[in-house]
Amino acid sequence: MAFGGDAPNAPPHNRDPVLTSNKIRRAGRALNRRQGPGYAGSPRLAGSARGIRRSRHKRTPHTRGVRQGRYHKLMRGRSRNRRQTFVPRTRIPGEITEARERVESKWFACSERDPSMADLVTAKGARREPFHRWLTFKQTFSPELVRAFMQHLDEGGESGDESPLLDPFSGTGTFVTECARQGKPALGVDALIAAAFVRNTDVAQIPDTPDLTGCESWPDIADRLTDRVHRAALICTIAAQTTARGTLNKNAPPIAGALHETLEVMRDDLRTPLKTANVTVRGDGRALDFIANGSIGGILTSPPYLSRHDYAKLTLPFESVYAHWYGRPQSNQVPASPRAAARPRRGEVPPAVAEACDALNLIDQRRMARVVHAYFVDMIDCLRNCARVLKPGAPCWLVIGGARIKDVYIPSDSILADQAAAAGLPVRRFVVARNLVPGGRNLGRLANITPRESILQMRKD
Ligand SMILES: C[S@@+](CC[C@H](N)C(=O)[O-])C[C@H]1O[C@@H](n2cnc3c(N)ncnc32)[C@H](O)[C@@H]1O
Repeated sequence: MAFGGDAPNAPPHNRDPVLTSNKIRRAGRALNRRQGPGYAGSPRLAGSARGIRRSRHKRTPHTRGVRQGRYHKLMRGRSRNRRQTFVPRTRIPGEITEARERVESKWFACSERDPSMADLVTAKGARREPFHRWLTFKQTFSPELVRAFMQHLDEGGESGDESPLLDPFSGTGTFVTECARQGKPALGVDALIAAAFVRNTDVAQIPDTPDLTGCESWPDIADRLTDRVHRAALICTIAAQTTARGTLNKNAPPIAGALHETLEVMRDDLRTPLKTANVTVRGDGRALDFIANGSIGGILTSPPYLSRHDYAKLTLPFESVYAHWYGRPQSNQVPASPRAAARPRRGEVPPAVAEACDALNLIDQRRMARVVHAYFVDMIDCLRNCARVLKPGAPCWLVIGGARIKDVYIPSDSILADQAAAAGLPVRRFVVARNLVPGGRNLGRLANITPRESILQMRKD
């Protein structure tokens, strides 16, 4: 059964059967020019000229097709992501895929693909809209998604309910901020302390900025700022100058001028003040101990995705600004990335997760196997806690992405959808917003599988 993404096009090698080795070499050189020196030398990067030349020795009909497919990808400039590998290894020798095939097939049958949701799971909207644009990062979702959630509450007749809403992984605070704009009480919880500091700052008025003459770096400026609003603005300014890899952008404008611009944006947005002041707490979204059972009217959240981002690293520049004044709290990030050093966790995981961990162990990725295991123990706990704090019948939307780690496919969305009912949150709609990785691979008998970003729409029993 074909499963997964968009209808597969004809394989590229069928369209252009004439492929000379010169063409391959040229494609490799073009890629190296784009990716910079050193790219070809890296043994990990199969898209490099060296990778292509090596593959010429394996002249089976299969690898010839592979080589040609790779050539077309290079020529079409699809290899923007350096880490993307074009070696379509579809199966790790000895890997068992049965449990993941089962869970994938089950949820494919009831999932729906909605491309209009694709932009709603990205930061595009937040970067444009008042208040949201103060603080964003790449993993932020769109305020439009929050409005879609509110509309869902309206349709369910729950919008008059005064119980607060919750985002237990609130990140930069898109959910709580949009609720504040709409006058709806909401609570955010996140491991990031700087984001909580910014979103809890009462920015009714913006005081005059102190003299910053002679300040060249952010610590110089930080030493002169005593007002909380200015401090929050400096955190936002550094966040805006942080790259997607978690480093400071070297070509960013001088920090003093950028800070003034941030304050101008804030002044502008405050012309239409927030309707209510919502709270974000720095805490652990997995536990939610401080929230009473059945007290929450609805949850919209996007927990960390497996293996995609190390939030501790990505947010280091602006968390460091906070730490400059107040010190750094101990990290409580969900271990989700290959960098995470997850301690072995006790806890049952579903067969599909155990199978993925076995596949990782098979290729000697033991640390990653521990991360995957700990991640799902955390996510299942998190589902149970969401169910505990929700009122009966209240909705819970989970934005979640799947992963492919070292060729091991982990369908996080299907796995969590499967676990949701047991946690007390049966899935009503499984909406696939977009594919996270172009192209698809095989998973046992299933073809064209690629990690997706999905919105699981659940409701408490
Ligand atoms: C996908 S982002 C959420 C983005 C958010 N929806 C927004 O619009 O900015 C995942 C968030 O989970 C947070 N996180 C990771 N581990 C956490 C934990 N144990 N408790 C609370 N938040 C955590 C990360 O700091 C990150 O901000």
